Amino acid sequence: MQKLRNKATQVNSARLDLLDKLVNKIKSENKEDRLLESIMRLTCSVVNAAASSLLLLDEGNQELLFKTAGVTEGKQLRRLHVSRQSGIIGWIARNGKPLIVNDAEKNRQMHQFIDEATGFRTRSAIGVPLIMNGKVAGVVEVLNKLDGTDFSRQDLQILTGVATTTALAIEKVRLNTNLLKSYKSTVNALVSLADAKETSGGGHSRRVSEYALIGAADMALSSKQKQTIEYAAILHDIGKLSIPDNILNKSGNPTDEEWEVIRKHPVVGYELLKDIPFLQEASRLVLYHHERYDGKGYPQGLQGEGIPIGARLLAVADAFDNMTTEHSYRAALNRQHAFAELRRCANSQFCPVAVKAFNSGFVKSRLSGK
Ligand SMILES: [Fe+2]
Repeated sequence: MQKLRNKATQVNSARLDLLDKLVNKIKSENKEDRLLESIMRLTCSVVNAAASSLLLLDEGNQELLFKTAGVTEGKQLRRLHVSRQSGIIGWIARNGKPLIVNDAEKNRQMHQFIDEATGFRTRSAIGVPLIMNGKVAGVVEVLNKLDGTDFSRQDLQILTGVATTTALAIEKVRLNTNLLKSYKSTVNALVSLADAKETSGGGHSRRVSEYALIGAADMALSSKQKQTIEYAAILHDIGKLSIPDNILNKSGNPTDEEWEVIRKHPVVGYELLKDIPFLQEASRLVLYHHERYDGKGYPQGLQGEGIPIGARLLAVADAFDNMTTEHSYRAALNRQHAFAELRRCANSQFCPVAVKAFNSGFVKSRLSGK
């Protein structure tokens, strides 16, 4: 009796541990395939199974397609389609109910199709339907206990928990992916609009992004910081959408009132972007891209290292492109002159570290033929 109780406690603790790991995985993983693979790997080890697989229903032809398969024949299994009419998997998908089979050898027709294709011989199996939005969206199954024993009711409970968590995880990842896609297409549309308002014939944002990344490559920045700099560079002048064309394209000097309007564009850009989840960090760089190292910039007059490094780099990249591009009101400077100007203004307008990184990054990228 005591032994049984100990066994039940062990199973419960394994289940809690598994669910805990699953929740952590779901929080951190945004790629559906990778998420499903790690969920199935964890499940396999907790129920002590030789193999596990997850199939999703193709609504179009009503077939189940292997998404992950934790056996050596994984690549082969992934390509397989299973009809809803065939075997254990088909039965579970049709009926929306779980199934334990501990005598698969006696029911060879249940697994024959997959076993023949992969060489994997199924002795025992548990399958559970994956329910999404109230409908069967797939099947999760584990095969063959490694110690040769039968699958138990507790194993079934674990797999049922896994199926519920997996369905939620897939929904979360798909929602995030769709949201991200729609944000990105909105942002691209905004960038094209901002580009169309330029006085230099377009492409400024993309060139600033290229230059900022060249500088970033020469600094000890994480890949996340570089990604933030790339987004911010593409979007740094998005706030110019709020500046009327007659001010933006004016050939003479702007009046004081017009300057007031122009100087608002970093704040307008920040306000536009700050609530978009993947652009929150980038929006801060957009806000500070006209700050100066000596504190004479805008909108807040930040100084030196008080300005985020990404924004200091953006300021350098932005100025370099402005100098080396022809505008309706003046000719382009050659690159040598533009670099000399950046160096002359290091420590006053520009951060010296950012100027140096951009300069040496530029030389290296030219040498490597990029
Ligand atoms: Fe700007």
